[in-house]
Amino acid sequence: MHATAIAQPNIALIKYWGKRNVSRNLPAVGSISITLSDLYTEVSIDFSSGLSQDELVVNGKRNIEMLPRISACIDSVAGGDRCRVRVSSKSNFPIAAGLASSASAFAATTVAIAGAAGLSFSTSELAKLAGQASGSAARSLYGGFAELKNSGENIEVTSLCSDDSWPIQVIVAITETGQKAVGSTVAMEFSRKTSPFYKSWIAQQDKDLDSARLAIDRRDFDGLATVAEHNCLKMHSVMWTSRPSLVYWNSATIACMQRIRRLQEDGCKVFFTIDAGPQVKAVCLPEYAIDVREALKKTPGVQQVMVSGLGTAARLIESS
Ligand code: PMV
Repeated sequence: MHATAIAQPNIALIKYWGKRNVSRNLPAVGSISITLSDLYTEVSIDFSSGLSQDELVVNGKRNIEMLPRISACIDSVAGGDRCRVRVSSKSNFPIAAGLASSASAFAATTVAIAGAAGLSFSTSELAKLAGQASGSAARSLYGGFAELKNSGENIEVTSLCSDDSWPIQVIVAITETGQKAVGSTVAMEFSRKTSPFYKSWIAQQDKDLDSARLAIDRRDFDGLATVAEHNCLKMHSVMWTSRPSLVYWNSATIACMQRIRRLQEDGCKVFFTIDAGPQVKAVCLPEYAIDVREALKKTPGVQQVMVSGLGTAARLIESS
C-alpha cells in the first residue's frame, strides 16, 4: 500500500486557456506541449489506517492549501470510500510559479495512487483522471510532444512525437520564485467572462493547432517557432485584457523576450514561450543551447537558468 511515481512538467507550445466545463475541468481549446526531462516532481503515497484525514507534505513542509485538490484527485482514482493517505511531494524547481508544477504533481499523484492501490489503468485513463485535477497534467502522462484534444465529453491526449525523435532543448529562465498571485482556474474564468479577445482566441486555436502539428510532423523548427510565439502572445493578450487584468510578467520576463529576439536576428534557432507566471522558456535546437543559456544567464533580473531536453512519460518508480 505504498508507491512512488515521478512525472515531468510539460510546457505548452500551443496553449490551453479557458474552460468549456468548469466542474468537469474540460478545456475550451486543444493544446500541444512538450514534456521536460530535467525538471521533475516525485510523489510518494502511503495508505495508512491510522489517519483520520489525508496529509500532504510538499518539499518537506505540511501543506494545507493544496490538500483538497490532492484528496479529490486521489478519490477520483481510488474512490471516496478509501483509507486516508500520506502524500509526500518534492520538486526540483519552483512550484506554483508558472513552471507547470501542478501538471507534474497531479500526473505523479495519479500514477502513484493507482500503484499504491494496486489498480491497473491504461495511460489514457490515467490522463483523463489527472486532467480532471489539472488540465495540463493530462499531458504529463506522455513524453515528447503531446496533444490534448478539445473534443468529446472526456479529456483525451495523443502522442505526436516521442522524446528522442526530435531533440529539442529548453532553457528555462527563472525570474521570480514566489507563487503567482492568481491561480489558473480562477484566472481562466476572469478571461472567459471579461476579455473582449476571448472569443477570437478560441476561434483561432484550431488553425494554430493545425500549423503546429504540421511543423512537428515535418520537424520544421521555424514553422513551430512562428506559431508558438504568436499563440503565447495571444494568450497573454487575453490575460492582460481580462478584468481584473492578469499580468504575470515582470521586467526580466520582457528583457528575456528582447534577448531572444536579438538571438533570432543573429540566426539562432530559438523561440520563447511563457505560461501563467514570469518565467521564460526558450525552446531551441540543441546546437544553440549553450549560446541561449549564456545569453539568458546574463540578462538582468534572471535568477537561475535550467536546461532541459524532452522527457518521457510519468511513471511508477516503486510500489509495495
Ligand atoms: O492546467 P492548469 O490549470 O495549470 O492550466 C495551464 C495553463 C497554461 O499553463 C497557461 C497553459 C497550458 O496549456 O499549460
